[in-house]
Amino acid sequence: MTETIKDSIVLITGATGAIAQALIAGLRARGAKKIYAAARDVSSLTASDRLVPIKMDVTSDDDVNRAAAQATDVTLLINNAGVNHNTAFLLAADLAIAREEFECNYLAPLRVVRAFAPALIANKGAVLNMLTILARVNLPLMGSYCASKAAALSLTQGLRAELGAKGVRVAAALPGAVDTRMTAGLPIPKMSPADAATEILDGFEKGEEEIYVGDMARGLAAGLAADPKGVERQLASPG
Ligand SMILES: NC(=O)c1ccc[n+]([C@@H]2O[C@H](COP(=O)([O-])OP(=O)(O)OC[C@H]3O[C@@H](n4cnc5c(N)ncnc54)[C@H](OP(=O)(O)O)[C@@H]3O)[C@@H](O)[C@H]2O)c1
Repeated sequence: MTETIKDSIVLITGATGAIAQALIAGLRARGAKKIYAAARDVSSLTASDRLVPIKMDVTSDDDVNRAAAQATDVTLLINNAGVNHNTAFLLAADLAIAREEFECNYLAPLRVVRAFAPALIANKGAVLNMLTILARVNLPLMGSYCASKAAALSLTQGLRAELGAKGVRVAAALPGAVDTRMTAGLPIPKMSPADAATEILDGFEKGEEEIYVGDMARGLAAGLAADPKGVERQLASPG
């Protein structure tokens, strides 16, 4: 099972995003042999000997299957693409936002893992899912995003059993707030994408299954271990 980054062959989805860009820099620095940078718009991604842009909307079966047929040498799949409409359940006009978040944050990683499973099994590889600490407790002001990431946490656990039996490691990163486009409107302390990427890759290389990223995530995880209802109530009335 893949645990070290050196000489790995990585495919990362949502490669144009801020955390993805920091992860790509970290992967390169740690000696990844090749990185497939998958994005729905690849125009800003520059190909090089170690970076291969691939067009992939993660909600498209065609895009994902085409990428899986091309990148059969992948040893580490990072499901990073995500969407967060920062919307409470009852404030959304209809179900469109919840559907989009579930499409991108739950069904898409399922689609991508299913397509890449044969290669990952053959290569004894690994999957790293980008979740959030809010997969473990709901923050009502972005309730439907949290629900979609909770589904992705359950997906991660199920895949760990299914793929683990076939020699593929399944890990998850659970960051707190990171300073990206996704959190632009939130007046809260945020860590830099570079610091988040360092912690994610350090945790991955240490063999962790759930990688808590940043003080906010570690604090909430400790709170959930000690007093889960207290944390639920704390997030229900922030500030
Ligand atoms: N920022 C945080 O505080 C935070 C905390 C915990 C977890 N996360 C997770 O970290 C991951 C990366 O987020 P980020 O903060 O780096 O946000 P970001 O800069 O907005 O990046 C999100 C990326 O996902 C891509 N994406 C969205 N829908 C897609 C689709 N249908 N197909 C392919 N790509 C798609 C976006 O592509 P386009 O540029 O084409 O829209 C973008 O590249 C997400 O899974 C997010 O939930 C973020």
